[in-house]
Amino acid sequence: MDVPLSLPDIGEREREAVDEVLRSRWLSMGPVVAAFENKIAEYVGVRQAVAINSGTSGLHLAVRALGLGEGDEAITTPFSFVASANCLLFERVQPVFVDIDPLTLNIDPELVKVKITSRTRCILPVHVFGHPAEMDELTNLARQNGLFIIEDACEALGAKYHGKQAGSMGDMALFAFYPNKQLTTGEGGVILTDSDQLAGLCRSMRNQGRDAGDEWYEHSRLGYNYRMDEMSAALGCAQLSRVTEILAKRQAVAKMYNERLSGLDGVTVPYVAPGVEMSWFVYVIRFDPAINRDLVMKEIAGRGIGCRAYFQPIHLQPFYRRSFGFGPGDFPVTEAVAATTLALPFHNHLTAEEIDYVVTNLAEVIGQC
Ligand SMILES: Cc1ncc(COP(=O)(O)O)c(C=O)c1O
Repeated sequence: MDVPLSLPDIGEREREAVDEVLRSRWLSMGPVVAAFENKIAEYVGVRQAVAINSGTSGLHLAVRALGLGEGDEAITTPFSFVASANCLLFERVQPVFVDIDPLTLNIDPELVKVKITSRTRCILPVHVFGHPAEMDELTNLARQNGLFIIEDACEALGAKYHGKQAGSMGDMALFAFYPNKQLTTGEGGVILTDSDQLAGLCRSMRNQGRDAGDEWYEHSRLGYNYRMDEMSAALGCAQLSRVTEILAKRQAVAKMYNERLSGLDGVTVPYVAPGVEMSWFVYVIRFDPAINRDLVMKEIAGRGIGCRAYFQPIHLQPFYRRSFGFGPGDFPVTEAVAATTLALPFHNHLTAEEIDYVVTNLAEVIGQC
């Protein structure tokens, strides 16, 4: 049996929506991007949404819009996808990593507190795997110290933290829509904010620095081409119209896994904190340290089971080691977690039979590793 790690959930509604755009004259900068932005802002409950062509470009614009630059520090997590720290480097902002909570796998607010200096301008928490970070504590720290929060909700569309939607809690927030995400536009992302001014800056910067009243060849500021196209936005609108169904399907798959894996020795299923509604991006288990995770991964991959070691710590990436001199032992919780995690196949249409195949093989392989 071949069980892929992830699969997008594309139906007739998505195909029709994209086809409609293709039959129109507007493939870019038309009405569908604006419609998508309105729908997603309404879903999250924020004033403004600015669609862009990836989560990474959105993070970059957020850093620029907040005016962060050389000499500034931003406190963030080393247990994330590399883009959540790279966006700081684009603008020569110093990423200050702090270790994570071993249960939620999110940035530990107590450690953030001790890393705040006169140079700190921003906290950049990531809702890892769709589990919201401790936003109450982080928001208090930000308020007390006059810091911005960029909420990297790229993996967490639909998650809730004490009733608040992921993407609604930072000065600026991001979703990403790569095909393995809860909602996809192919490539794409969206910036969320309650600030009309910040949203306006982002709209200009995503469009080569053109301001609202500018002529086509007039560029009021430094800009980029970070625009989302109309086909992607159409896909996003169709996906968003059935977001409740999509999130429920993912929740049901996670529940099946939890039930099937709960009795398996040496395996810990994902933790969900009280007051949190997880939005399942990936399904990541943890092994007892005595189990050779890499060998398990190799063995089950050989049996057609898609799997991946989510995440390799950012500070141990070759570029970060070279540039900043990081090494093993710098962030022990992150490193211990990263050495023992495994993402299993996870998508909306995973069947009980496929889950059975994954779990049966996993159990067999663990016995030998
Ligand atoms: C936490 C996090 N931040 C940022 C990104 C970047 O998004 P994109 O791949 O759309 O550039 C991702 C995407 O995987 C992510 O998981």
